Amino acid sequence: MRSLVLVAAGGLARETLAAVRASGSHGRVLAVDDDPSRWGSSFDGVPVIGGLEQVADLLDGDVVVCAGRGGTRRALVERLAGLGVTWEHYARVVHPSVDIPASCVVGRGSILLAQVSLTCDVRLGAHVVAMPHVTLTHDDVVADYATLCAGVSLGGNVTVGAGAYLGMNASVREDLAVGADSVLGMGAVLLRPLPAGQTWAGVPAAPLPAAYPVGVEA
Ligand SMILES: CC(C)(COP(=O)(O)OP(=O)(O)OC[C@H]1O[C@@H](n2cnc3c(N)ncnc32)[C@H](O)[C@@H]1OP(=O)(O)O)[C@@H](O)C(=O)NCCC(=O)NCCS
Repeated sequence: MRSLVLVAAGGLARETLAAVRASGSHGRVLAVDDDPSRWGSSFDGVPVIGGLEQVADLLDGDVVVCAGRGGTRRALVERLAGLGVTWEHYARVVHPSVDIPASCVVGRGSILLAQVSLTCDVRLGAHVVAMPHVTLTHDDVVADYATLCAGVSLGGNVTVGAGAYLGMNASVREDLAVGADSVLGMGAVLLRPLPAGQTWAGVPAAPLPAAYPVGVEA
């Protein structure tokens, strides 16, 4: 059975580990992290063996990047490329409660936690994170590095741009586009297209006042 390296040893790594353990997809699991204070520690039996450069010695196994923010996942993947990590090294982590119909595609490096639903003809790019109870319906397209927090629901034929972050329990009406690197606040109901790079929230969703800085916790 292949080994797995979890890159970034925070909360999402522990959630990812739970999915890996439940599915039995991998044998030995290790973690690396940029934070030296984590080196030598462990979580749920997984040792944090050092920084990113350790991954270069572990490429006979799989890798998954567990940073909660899409922009951070993108930056880590770019750094890992410099260490020889290519797309085929990345594992898909899918909790065993998740059924992926034959008409759906899930890209490498993506993490699907418990009870995510995909109905049909859903396409997820690479390094997408779908947290528990996300619902994806017909013809949805979610681009690389997007993050769908717990309970997000997408109507049919929705597109989510690269690096977008949809907060917990946000809903998106059918046929809409969520722009790249945008943020949709938790609990939002999106009824109009969300432009790239903007932060919207509320019911119905609207831009947050420009005076407020955009902040998203991992
Ligand atoms: C939208 C969001 C990114 C804004 O964060 P922020 O830039 O730090 O904004 P603040 O918390 O300072 O709030 C700014 C204003 O927007 C309001 N606001 C923030 N989030 C909101 C939301 N989801 N819905 C409605 N209003 C919201 C606040 O009440 C505040 O308004 P006020 O000053 O009139 O009271 C954040 O609140 C959010 O929803 N993040 C997603 C959290 C999540 O799903 N986490 C899952 C982790 S696994």
